[in-house]
Amino acid sequence: MKIAILNGSPRKENTAAMVEAFKAGAEEAGNEVCVLHVGKMKIGGCLACEYCHGKGEGQCIQKDDMSQVIDAYKWADMIVFASPIYYSTMTSQLHAAIQRMYAIGKPAATKATLLLSTASGQTDAAEAYFKQLIGFMGMEDCGVCKVVGDDNKKDEKMAEIKAWATTIK
Ligand SMILES: Cc1cc2nc3c(=O)[nH]c(=O)nc-3n(C[C@H](O)[C@H](O)[C@H](O)COP(=O)(O)O)c2cc1C
Repeated sequence: MKIAILNGSPRKENTAAMVEAFKAGAEEAGNEVCVLHVGKMKIGGCLACEYCHGKGEGQCIQKDDMSQVIDAYKWADMIVFASPIYYSTMTSQLHAAIQRMYAIGKPAATKATLLLSTASGQTDAAEAYFKQLIGFMGMEDCGVCKVVGDDNKKDEKMAEIKAWATTIK
């Protein structure tokens, strides 16, 4: 399976450690994995100009880093959304990368999973959003993994994520 991980964190810290653990497990299980550092990308919000659904024929009028994410949406069988919790939800960088999916309508990927790093463990809003999003896209929910506070980057937690990723098919 081809797996695209969208890491919404702008830092190489807690979420990045989860992403690396997931990637290692998924690769061990024979999957092809690519990681997109969405948190560091320049991706504007959707302008709702409808250029993509008319003259643009699926291309967005904004020429920014979103083209890399669109390529990944077209390539992947599974999308992994990874993010730290910022003000109770995913980062705005990841939100922009999700909302700009509008240009292609629906990704080729049929499966989705969610990795969240948080200080307090309050992930309800991000999880509810993920579930609603993948329901809307008709994708299969392959699970949510979250790491809270002091557990961030802990070897045992990262080993758990790696082991979990080896089971994803
Ligand atoms: C702007 C900002 C907002 C945050 N909001 C929350 C929050 O609402 N709830 C929470 O538990 N942690 C919050 N945090 C803490 C991060 O979610 C947490 O430290 C996370 O592990 C950081 O992941 P990273 O190392 O990948 O950036 C916030 C951090 C930042 C920088």
